[in-house]
Formats: sequence, C-alpha cells, structure tokens
Amino acid sequence: MSSKTPLKSGEKILFTIFGVFFVLAMIGYGVLEYIRLNSEEPIFVQRTFFDFSEKGLRGSELYRKANCNACHRALRAGTSMGLSLDGLGSKRSLEWIEAFLRNPEEVYGAPTIDHGRPPKEAAYVSELPEETRHLIAVFISELRADPGSSVAKAPPPGRSEFIDRMVGAWAPEEWKEKYQDIREKQQQQEQALEKIDE
Ligand code: HEC
Repeated sequence: MSSKTPLKSGEKILFTIFGVFFVLAMIGYGVLEYIRLNSEEPIFVQRTFFDFSEKGLRGSELYRKANCNACHRALRAGTSMGLSLDGLGSKRSLEWIEAFLRNPEEVYGAPTIDHGRPPKEAAYVSELPEETRHLIAVFISELRADPGSSVAKAPPPGRSEFIDRMVGAWAPEEWKEKYQDIREKQQQQEQALEKIDE
C-alpha cells in the first residue's frame, strides 16, 4: 500500500520556513565556531574567578557531597536548572550566605521555592551541621566576579558618561532620594574602613 500523499501547500511553506531557519542556524554556528577557533583573544570573556583558602577548599568538598549541584551550577559543574553560584561572593557577603543557608525564608524575606522548611526539597540544607554550613558558605563566598559582570554588585571601574546621562534623563526624581549610587556608597564604606584602620 502506498502511503504517499502529496504535501499540501501550507505544509510546504512551513517546511520551507523551518528549513531556511535550520540552514541559517547551521551557517551561524559554523561562522561563530570559525571565529572562536581563529580569534587570538577569547570571544567569551570569563568574568568569574576564584582563589580558595583552605577553608574554602574543604567547603567545596562538602558542597559536592551535599549534592547542591543537583540544582545549582558552580565551577563548570552542576545543572542549569536553578541559580548559578559562580560570582555570588561578589554580590553577597559571607554573613548573608551563611544566614541564608540557616534561615532561608527569613533572610529572603519572600517565599522561597526549594530552600526552607520541609517538605521543600532543599530543606535539608538548614539541617546540616553548623560547621558544614559554615565551610560551604566560605566556599561560596570565594566564588568571585569582576566588577561590571552581571553577577557582581559593583559596576565596572570608572564613571560612564553614557550611564550618567541616561540616569540623569530617565530616572524619576524620587529615585534620587530613595536610592543611592552604589559607587558613592562603596566609596563611603571604604573611607569608613580606612578610618577604623587608622
Ligand atoms: C532542590 C534544589 C536545590 C538544592 C538541592 C539546593 N538549592 Fe540552593 N537554591 C535553590 C533555589 C530554587 C534557590 C532560590 C531560593 C529558593 O527559592 O529556594 C536557591 C538559592 C540558593 C542560594 C541563594 C542565592 C541568592 O543569591 O539568592 C544559595 C547561597 C544556595 N542556594 C546554596 C545552596 C547550597 C550550598 C546547597 C547545598 C548544600 C543548595 N543550595 C542546594 C535550589 C536548590
């Protein structure tokens, strides 16, 4: 029995559109790979880095054993289902991370999905021994990012005239009272620290 039925014109159009997209995607991929392999400088710049202390190294082992990578990504391992922890140490302080692991809901101040009280799936994290949680928090706090990367709190060094002009033109007046420029805040904090050192 022959099951060959000629394609309807709508089907032909759909298949053609799909085919064109597919061919363009393959060409794009080929071009990108060609550029990537032949470029002298890396085209995807790595903006996260780490330099582990002894405690951080021990924390990284505990982190692996505690199966955090089932939901998180860190150091090129893990899954992309949940948050990537790379660079988190440049956004959150060690104290914050440790407090979050202990009391996720209170620290978030918002409903959490997986961390929190049972039966949430990551509820076990709050029940790990204090010392284990501390070392894991040290490990995470040592996953750093360059200023200006999407995971870092700090903007790139120096002022950008473009951003200043955009903020001047578009930010509502009340924001200027409500929020502080993080660069000025950092400067004040640094000055305060210097005073303490003196
Ligand atoms: C079942 C999935 C799951 C597991 C397992 C898990 N996490 Fe999470 N993690 C999440 C989700 C989802 C969030 C976002 C907060 C929430 O909704 O619970 C989160 C948030 C976090 C945050 C806060 C990030 C931020 O800046 O907001 C840290 C730190 C963290 N997890 C560390 C860990 C560590 C360490 C472990 C292992 C001991 C772990 N997680 C295990 C899913 C998981």
